[in-house]
Amino acid sequence: MRIKNLLILLCCWPLLSLAKSVTISSPNGQIQVIVADDGSPHYQVNFAKQAVLNPSKLGLRFLQTAEFGQGFHIEKVSTAQSDSEWQLPWGERKNVRDNHHELLVVFANKATPASQHHHFAVRFRVFNDGLGFRYEVPKQAGLTKLDITNELTEFTIANDHNASTAWWIPARGWNRYEYTYRTTPLSDIDRVQTPFTLKLPSGIHISIHEAALVNYASMTLNQQRANVFKADLTPWSDGILVKTHAGFHSPWRTIQISNNAVGLLNSDLILNLNEPNKLGDVSWVKPGKYVGIWWAMHLGEKTWGSGPKHGATTKETERYMDFAAKYGFDGVLVEGWNIGWDGDWFHNGDLFNFTKSFPDFDLQAVTDYGKKLGVKLIGHNETSGSVTNYRRQMKAAYRLYQKMGISQVKTGYVADGGHIKRIDNNGITRYEWHDGQFMVGEYLHSVTEAAKYHISINSHEPIKDTGLRRTYPNWISREGARGQEYNAWGTPPNPPEHTAILPFTRMLSGPMDFTPGIFNMSFHGLRDDVNRPQTTLAKQLALYVVLYSPIQMAADLPRNYEANLPAFQFIRDVPTDWQQSKALAGEVGDYVVFAREDRHSSDWFLGALTGKNARSVTIKLDFLDPSKHYEAQIYRDGDKANWVTKPYDLVIEKQQVNADTKLTLKMVASGGVAIRFKALD
Ligand code: NOJ
Ligand code: CA
Repeated sequence: MRIKNLLILLCCWPLLSLAKSVTISSPNGQIQVIVADDGSPHYQVNFAKQAVLNPSKLGLRFLQTAEFGQGFHIEKVSTAQSDSEWQLPWGERKNVRDNHHELLVVFANKATPASQHHHFAVRFRVFNDGLGFRYEVPKQAGLTKLDITNELTEFTIANDHNASTAWWIPARGWNRYEYTYRTTPLSDIDRVQTPFTLKLPSGIHISIHEAALVNYASMTLNQQRANVFKADLTPWSDGILVKTHAGFHSPWRTIQISNNAVGLLNSDLILNLNEPNKLGDVSWVKPGKYVGIWWAMHLGEKTWGSGPKHGATTKETERYMDFAAKYGFDGVLVEGWNIGWDGDWFHNGDLFNFTKSFPDFDLQAVTDYGKKLGVKLIGHNETSGSVTNYRRQMKAAYRLYQKMGISQVKTGYVADGGHIKRIDNNGITRYEWHDGQFMVGEYLHSVTEAAKYHISINSHEPIKDTGLRRTYPNWISREGARGQEYNAWGTPPNPPEHTAILPFTRMLSGPMDFTPGIFNMSFHGLRDDVNRPQTTLAKQLALYVVLYSPIQMAADLPRNYEANLPAFQFIRDVPTDWQQSKALAGEVGDYVVFAREDRHSSDWFLGALTGKNARSVTIKLDFLDPSKHYEAQIYRDGDKANWVTKPYDLVIEKQQVNADTKLTLKMVASGGVAIRFKALD
């Protein structure tokens, strides 16, 4: 164990104070974290003998007592180590290894008056793929209620401010997490969301995020002096950041580190820092694929509200269920089925009724119909951010859905940032952020409440993922970035590099319900200045492998799939639950290649996609089982394909391969490749 667990005396002025530091390393020794108390508590991080984070502050400020920072010294330290394996009930891999070294540093002050003598701890866990640390404030004399007014944590990026590149979206904006990513030097950044990914001039990639965000506010990062990214917690409507009591701990602050971009993708750090499953037997949580009455509304062919174009009718639902049964889908999502969608639903969330359907939608009839076909109705609860209205109806709604055999509900919190509406205990209307402490609790409440009725939750306009699916496996997916819907109406639609950035940023936090698979891109014509997916068809297929989610939608209209059954075959074949996953190659924003092994067969799947530039990538198939032969069913960009005018030029070809084969993946600009490796023996 390479932990230097003895305190090293640094200071040369012993009569006044002894500054101390303690160092902990990752199991392979590559990452080194140094914690010190000269001046005030801080830490720094080295990777492969290079500084990654320069000394960065630690500490908290509270309303009720003096700062936990300045004046606090290391009082004691203890270390531990752990190397274990655990399993995901569903996921991008079945077995996860948790191999880390741990350091607990207790800080205390000896201030006068004695009533201000307090202590807190920072627990570090250092893995080969990064580290996490969290604050632990135990119960102690003189401390009860604690309102956090400032978290002092800093991430001070080593290296030249202008020579590092970051991929980021702004924080505390009106559009939550649904922004196009910006690729800029660090110097252009103000306040950002996490995961916040950057590349140092040395080629080292790091991503700052958090794990196990429970009963706390989301951490955004605010760049103060050059390179100093300070924790900036999203406040309550009254300005307090976190309302808590002594005896709490913060979420883990995480830093994933790799000497290349791909290393970030193969990291399990976030999951490893979450608590094990608290729900017990979760065999009722089912990964799968679905279709839905959804894209038709985004295109304007149908409406959520009632009237001649109402999408969610009994008849239309049964038509989708027939389609789902015919092509092997598990569920049909139906949006706009319940009372509340008429009129300006965006501003009238209080009108939503989660148990009463429109007269032309017969809940009992469609669920009965689905049962005969083996297809589930997927529920939809749009709240428009009126969360008290949702809370009041939640139990009755989930109880009804369970009775109807519904086992998955997509929730929605469409409201501008800072406009979540809640009614407080005094009947006063308050407006909160989607990522403040109040909403962190509200999203989790819907998940734990749904679990009682064996319902899985897919939250849209969610709080960002921090790995809580490990603890609550019915939190099956979420949105939390610009999804496919922006290609229908977004200004602008998602640019070609969007899905080449997502894996290295948003997806590091967990699964995303992106809703891939748009086959008809010409609803406004094949141009680059209209709304449409800015991709080729092969890239739409590749998204099923690249953007991991245990539930994947075939988002387009049934007629568009029936017009191209050969390409649709890939969507029918691709699984959503994996034995293992390997990112093979990639650079942030440029391209990415993933291989994943089906959890329920010996087949492997590969997805590769590129951003705005065409490229060829040669891949060794050494991930395949060397004792087997495979038929590679390849869906690639045709030689004349281009995303603007010839996105549909797709070649489907077969080739026998084994673990010794090398394949060259040729992708046109914003193109891709999707492959099924069907095991032959
Ligand atoms: C936004 C969601 O992301 C989208 O999927 C849904 O259709 C609309 N809200 C309406 O709930
Ligand atoms: Ca959305």
